Amino acid sequence: MKIDRIKDIEFFNREKEKEQIVNILKFNPRLITFIYGPINSGKTSLIMNLIEDLPDDYVAFYVNLRGKFISDYNDFVQSLFEVDRESKNKKRKISEFTKGFLSSAGRYYGIPIAENLLEGVFKDNEPKNVFEYITEVMNEVKKNKKQPILIIDELQVIGDLKIDDYLIYKIFNFFIRLTKELHLCHVFALSSDSLFIEKVYGEAMLQERCKYLLVDEFDKQTTKEFLGKYGITESEGEVVWNHAGGKPGHLIEIISAKETGKGIESVAKETIENEKNTLLFMLAKNREKKGEIMKIFKKFKHEYEIKFDEDVNFEILKFLIKKNILFIDAIKKSIKTQSKTELISIREILKEMS
Ligand SMILES: Nc1ncnc2c1ncn2[C@@H]1O[C@H](COP(=O)(O)OP(=O)(O)OP(=O)(O)O)[C@@H](O)[C@H]1O
Ligand SMILES: [Mg+2]
Repeated sequence: MKIDRIKDIEFFNREKEKEQIVNILKFNPRLITFIYGPINSGKTSLIMNLIEDLPDDYVAFYVNLRGKFISDYNDFVQSLFEVDRESKNKKRKISEFTKGFLSSAGRYYGIPIAENLLEGVFKDNEPKNVFEYITEVMNEVKKNKKQPILIIDELQVIGDLKIDDYLIYKIFNFFIRLTKELHLCHVFALSSDSLFIEKVYGEAMLQERCKYLLVDEFDKQTTKEFLGKYGITESEGEVVWNHAGGKPGHLIEIISAKETGKGIESVAKETIENEKNTLLFMLAKNREKKGEIMKIFKKFKHEYEIKFDEDVNFEILKFLIKKNILFIDAIKKSIKTQSKTELISIREILKEMS
């Protein structure tokens, strides 16, 4: 059997979001930037694309906590660092080590650390030691006339972790130190967990110390342009937009389906049918909540975005957010479905039930 390789999908657009980030990078670090948005909206890709093209005078350290099982101090330390095994047995100072790794690429996945320096960060189960090491590395980067950037993806993974106290507060304090106080390093924290962002937004210690950047699905025009690059016609693009919306992740699935010979209309209908069944199953399994869930669903009959106010049962809302059906934008104080697929499916269920 011959397998035709599905075309490589190139990173597309995001000019506006890139410009916003570039504007932050032009100035001295002052605030922590939280990049948030629905699942699969393209947050990670945006940041990855940006750090691939950074000018030479920036150095980015990207840490992704996704899928990392972090239950104690050791896991936390391991999730942050990339150990340089080549430095084995060599006793190296942070300054010397930093200078050494800086001579290569301007971006790092995990914070580099020499083996002999590991003992220091693991010492006494104290996050303080980790923060001191990172601060020193960033200082060294600065001494080498480069601007460091620290990016933590999926920060919510450590949202509930306790090391003595809640680790997340110590991390926020550290981020404030790096930005507002020392102006040493740009800090970007990414999360697709809208309940986590909602908590962060309400956090007193972070007031006036951060900035929020929404990375949402593509708008209609961008969606059609993106699809057009892969042979999807204007009218097919309209069908996609009306059924699935503009999340790049979803659009790529549709492009792949078309490449395997499926009709756009049937793919769109199938997606809605599957989502509807998932929602109906969820309603059947949670009978005691059904009345309250339907109350929230009804708000989406004519609106695609509703206000987040006291009229919404917060416990039920949290339940629907955790199920990845709804997305809360704490900054705009609004609630949307995770994508158009959920919206259309909810509307069909409402129609059938009336
Ligand atoms: N601008 C873009 N151009 C082309 N493809 C994109 C773009 N943005 C995202 N994608 C693709 O869409 C998919 C989802 O993107 P990505 O993982 O960046 O989203 P995310 O918002 O970080 O998701 P999560 O909420 O799961 O963290 C990936 O396959 C990615 O390659
Ligand atoms: Mg991501």
